[in-house]
Amino acid sequence: MEVIRTISDLRARLSGEPRVALVPTMGNIHEGHLSLVHIGHAQAPLVVTSIFVNRLQFGQGEDFDHYPRTFADDCEKLAAAGNHIVFHPDETQLYPEPQVFVVEPPPIANKLEGRFRPGHFRGMATVVLKLFNAVQPQIAVFGKKDYQQISIVRHMVDQFALPLSIVRAETVRAPDGLALSSRNRFLCEVERAEAPRLHRALARVKEQVEAGDLNFEAIEFGADTELARHGWHIDYVVVRSRRTLMQPEDDEKELVVLGAAKLGATRLIDNLEILAP
Ligand code: PAF
Repeated sequence: MEVIRTISDLRARLSGEPRVALVPTMGNIHEGHLSLVHIGHAQAPLVVTSIFVNRLQFGQGEDFDHYPRTFADDCEKLAAAGNHIVFHPDETQLYPEPQVFVVEPPPIANKLEGRFRPGHFRGMATVVLKLFNAVQPQIAVFGKKDYQQISIVRHMVDQFALPLSIVRAETVRAPDGLALSSRNRFLCEVERAEAPRLHRALARVKEQVEAGDLNFEAIEFGADTELARHGWHIDYVVVRSRRTLMQPEDDEKELVVLGAAKLGATRLIDNLEILAP
């Protein structure tokens, strides 16, 4: 597996490659990321995984400095999964001067995750556009765990007519249902045992809606109460339209329940798609 650190070396290496799949990551690679690499493999002969901890998408008081940086370990896992190239630029490559041009996402970026992480999606969309320009992939693979992120990236690709397709990958879960995430490593033993409750609460919401109960407010309240009873600090548990991530229209069927809550100092997010009857 090759490691490339500059945009010019990457461009030189990729020139003439007919089809490239990009898996953008911030490192601390786990099975969830590896599933994106496998999907990339199925879609293109060359898979590039980028590893870059993007300062722009971290807000004040967020964990940029403490974000786990595990490059050697990441490379071992990626090589074993058959990844071909790791693109690992440093900040002087991606941000040689302060990034004054930014991607300003639409107002939905200030809701849900954006409400609790102001500026997060602006920073995310800006670096993703930059990575797309550096790699110029034909496809890019993102995990559905960051549901709002994919929705914003797809909209950006559409509006800027970027010449690539976004592939959405299912969330990979531990056997007890906990969605894999780099943040899980911050959970102590007791919290780790409690953490799957978020998935169970969302699964219960899904079950209720799919059984025909469309009183979303009451159902969301039920999930909040259950989590709060077990010591969670809830940011949101909401049923939304998959298409707009806004409150569903009356007859809308393709829904998603999105949840974000803190267990101790660790903030977890998860979601499940719902098909209303
Ligand atoms: O999902 C992530 O890890 C990041 O938001 C991404 C897409 C790599 C951009 O920094």
